[in-house]
Amino acid sequence: MVKICCIGAGYVGGPTMAVIALKCPAIEVAVVDISVPRIAAWNSDQLPIYEPGLDEIVKQCRGKNLFFSTAVEKHVAEADIIFVSVNTPTKTRGLGAGKAADLTYWESAARMIADVSKSDKIVVEKSTVPVKTAEAIEKILAHNSKGIKYQILSNPEFLAEGTAIEDLFKPDRVLIGGRETPDGQKAIQALKAVYANWVPEDRIITTNLWSAELSKLAANAFLAQRISSVNAMSALCEATGANISEVSHAVGKDTRIGPKFLNASVGFGGSCFQKDILNLVYICECNGLPEVADYWKQVIKVNDYQKSRFVNRVVSSMFNTVSGKKIAILGFAFKKDTGDTRETAAIDVCNGLLGDKAHLSIYDLQVTEEQIRRDLSMKKFDWDHPIHLQPMSPAAAKEVSVAWDAYEAAKGAHGICILTEWDEFKTLDYKKIYDSMQKPAFLFDGRNVVDAGKLREIGFIVYSIGKPLDSWLKDMPAVA
Ligand code: UDX
Ligand code: UDX
Ligand code: ADP
Repeated sequence: MVKICCIGAGYVGGPTMAVIALKCPAIEVAVVDISVPRIAAWNSDQLPIYEPGLDEIVKQCRGKNLFFSTAVEKHVAEADIIFVSVNTPTKTRGLGAGKAADLTYWESAARMIADVSKSDKIVVEKSTVPVKTAEAIEKILAHNSKGIKYQILSNPEFLAEGTAIEDLFKPDRVLIGGRETPDGQKAIQALKAVYANWVPEDRIITTNLWSAELSKLAANAFLAQRISSVNAMSALCEATGANISEVSHAVGKDTRIGPKFLNASVGFGGSCFQKDILNLVYICECNGLPEVADYWKQVIKVNDYQKSRFVNRVVSSMFNTVSGKKIAILGFAFKKDTGDTRETAAIDVCNGLLGDKAHLSIYDLQVTEEQIRRDLSMKKFDWDHPIHLQPMSPAAAKEVSVAWDAYEAAKGAHGICILTEWDEFKTLDYKKIYDSMQKPAFLFDGRNVVDAGKLREIGFIVYSIGKPLDSWLKDMPAVA
């Protein structure tokens, strides 16, 4: 029986291993983590991450061929294939602060593998890492090898949160990079055989190590770039009276461009896009390619611009002040169908409004109050100027409340901001909400989920990203 061990029971490791266990009954999969509460949660009825379809799979496989454990060393020692799926945050200090990936967790995992291994291993990079990390890991393993042979593979994960299970069941492609030596090719084939249990062969791409590593950064950079492109257009649409949905539709019909990932928004978030682009920027700078670095930096700059543009629009529409006004925030997660808030646009928008002394009442279907408070009081790292910005003051903390439903959040509010595209927000009783609000009642739709026409009939003043502006908003131009 092939044994797989995955180090890191997070958003990537957990779902990926659950699906491998489900699709490969002949493989024993152990997911290990140093975090005791995280493993306890994976072994409970309340999984540590929310992902549609995940609960059923874990229930079906756990205790059979899927195990969650803190016995990291034991499972690593026993495994034939070790996936490393530990976190790789952006460095917050020292060389490359604000841009380079922090490989501390990776390095310690690699040293531990070298310490405890007694048989040959295939070590698979699952978390996104800078190009040439595999080489560094290879060096650590080789210099501590005690005669054991290691093969390093890069097998980046392309799943998106909220659709992780779907993405894992039917991936557009599985990418496996390895050394171009006979042993390297053998390792590639071994990993390919695992995926071949459910992924059609023509969707499994094999490359050299560096191509696989770079492809992951490139794919995320391209995706983020599409959103910044459409968001930049949304600003121009508002200025000219064009409609971003119509523009996106028309542009996306070109088969060379394609219709997906062209939704204007209040800004992209998530653990990957910004981190991976910053990492790409850093690699370009280190390789003497400042023009290329600047090109990709612009994708993040436009994203930051989109968030501050939204805040400016809210404030300027409401007579240039939100001081002391209650504003309902609908949605805090970085996208729908997840409870994840990493790099969510909501953090910057909320902090922007708090900076103008608004009172916020926040409602999200999946994010806990504890998480919201933690996010809003965290020091923000400015990627462009590596200094720590001030966290939310205790006074500002008092201006935040967390509501249990959208109606409670909106009651008595002057305005509503929709920041996550949860389906629920499409079908709320907006008449009831309108009646409970201060007048004039504003709604700022950062995700284009509501029917603005209907809401205007009710009496709302509506702002929709990239759509022709109400006369009210035209009379109150936002200062960019
Ligand atoms: C992304 C990649 O899609 C995935 O392939 C990679 O493995 C990890 O990073 P994820 O961050 O989970 O996945 O979610 P994604 O669906 O890509 O959304 C990222 C952000 O972009 C979200 O904030 C989302 O709301 C935003 N977005 C997405 C838009 O604003 N408009 C769009 O059209 C699409
Ligand atoms: C373009 C648009 O494709 C077309 O829809 C529009 O109506 C007019 O402008 P055209 O300029 O005739 O058409 O040719 P196109 O095939 O788009 O190529 C433009 C340039 O891009 C060429 O120099 C081509 O060599 C280059 N190109 C194209 C690349 O360098 N790489 C590619 O992958 C594709
Ligand atoms: P991702 O989104 O990439 O999956 P997460 O932060 O959700 O990232 O998960 C990474 C996990 O890796 C965390 O649960 C963390 O505790 C775990 N981890 C980090 N370093 C180690 C290590 N050396 N050994 C075991 N687990 C680790």
